[in-house]
Amino acid sequence: MANAQRLLVVEDDNAVRTTLVTFLELEGYQVDAVASSREALERLSRQSYPIVISDIYLDDRTGLDVLEEARRRDPSCAVILMTARGTLETVMAATRGGAFDYIAKPFELDRMLEAVRRAEQARAQEPPEEEEAEDLPETELVGSSPAMVEVYKIISRVAPTDATVLIEGETGTGKELVARMIHAQSPRAAHPFVAVDCAGIPPTLLESELFGAVRGAYTGADRDRTGVFEAAHRGTVFLDEIGDIDSGFQLKLLRFLQEKEIRPVGAARPKPVDVRVIAATNRDLQKAVEEGKFRQDLWFRLNVVRITLPPLRQRAGDVALLANYFLKKYNERYGMQARLLPDGLRALEDYTWPGNVRQLQHVIERLVILAPGGRIDGAAVRDAIQASAPREKAIETLAAAEEEQIRRVLQATGGNKSRAARILGIERKTLYRKLERMGLL
Ligand SMILES: Nc1ncnc2c1ncn2[C@@H]1O[C@H](COP(=O)(O)OP(=O)(O)OP(=O)(O)O)[C@@H](O)[C@H]1O
Ligand SMILES: [Mg+2]
Repeated sequence: MANAQRLLVVEDDNAVRTTLVTFLELEGYQVDAVASSREALERLSRQSYPIVISDIYLDDRTGLDVLEEARRRDPSCAVILMTARGTLETVMAATRGGAFDYIAKPFELDRMLEAVRRAEQARAQEPPEEEEAEDLPETELVGSSPAMVEVYKIISRVAPTDATVLIEGETGTGKELVARMIHAQSPRAAHPFVAVDCAGIPPTLLESELFGAVRGAYTGADRDRTGVFEAAHRGTVFLDEIGDIDSGFQLKLLRFLQEKEIRPVGAARPKPVDVRVIAATNRDLQKAVEEGKFRQDLWFRLNVVRITLPPLRQRAGDVALLANYFLKKYNERYGMQARLLPDGLRALEDYTWPGNVRQLQHVIERLVILAPGGRIDGAAVRDAIQASAPREKAIETLAAAEEEQIRRVLQATGGNKSRAARILGIERKTLYRKLERMGLL
């Protein structure tokens, strides 16, 4: 067995370090433990370790420095990084630096043991290749929950490749944002990213939209039309709501993914294009396949790598991070200084967010604009949530939507009409006229 393995644990939190050391020793490992990056680097300069487990945020240096030094000493060293504040950048940097695994805190000890065991096996099997660290790209993906860190790991691995990716997740969980991040961090970043809402385009037009059409191919086609796949040459095409395309188009898309060729409507011969496809859906595609509504062969093609975005209610801690991120963003945008009070944050965290990140974003935007005195407390949060909750019944007409909006803003301003008019971007006179029509004057 691997009992003689010597591990180095780098962790500044005494409780975590002690727990980890005790646990690993009980599992039969010899463990050296240090509490600072300086001690870690010093140890590593004296001896190499097959496995290093390091926290990321330590002191003036980070676990990424430990990673670099450990791998410089011994390129086959397996470094397991852990952090409570994982971001896409840190996961990307860790992956580039050759980290073996990345574990979000808090973690189950068994999860760590499993990673250590895998590291031992991997070392026994293959000599790892060396990678160079590059400058870190910007990101807007906020969230450090274990579920999101898993997502970052997949993104960091899939981004450099041309693999087709299927992104699943409830509405507002960030599917399009993730698709953009994958593109932005891929070698295609300098080329176009084109998003197509497959559900928003009538099935009859989808084909010419994506594949193009030659002049005269159908009534109204008075000139050649370049399709999205051609326009996005060398870039990425994001096919949103892919679960909604009809069976005829499913077949055409399958052909395209197999051949990487387009045949514009009415054209005599196909032409090759170089695009990467990322698809997204908020439906359960697997179920649609089982029910015979979605082609299984197409599903296989799309599902080379699948990313399932967790709903916000399963992302412990992320509500606070996202709320503060959006608070800063909208404070800047509107020139406000709104502050989130502790019971305001609690109210945000108590909610289940059926509309996920998008709904949270709207709620914060609304609160920044409306919070009296810029203080966002629990009551204000509950009001804003109520106003933002997805409606039971769809609002049918534009007029009805307008009335609804007026009611909401008025409610939020506590009936203050001047303020409501300002927020709605209309004259006070106009608001009065509308209220009169609504029978509210
Ligand atoms: N992790 C995140 N960090 C910061 N902003 C986010 C995050 N996730 C989502 N958002 C923001 O939330 C909004 C909704 O995200 P997005 O449009 O990507 O969701 P979606 O899953 O495509 O939703 P739908 O299924 O309704 O199309 C966007 O404004 C996006 O920028
Ligand atoms: Mg979307």
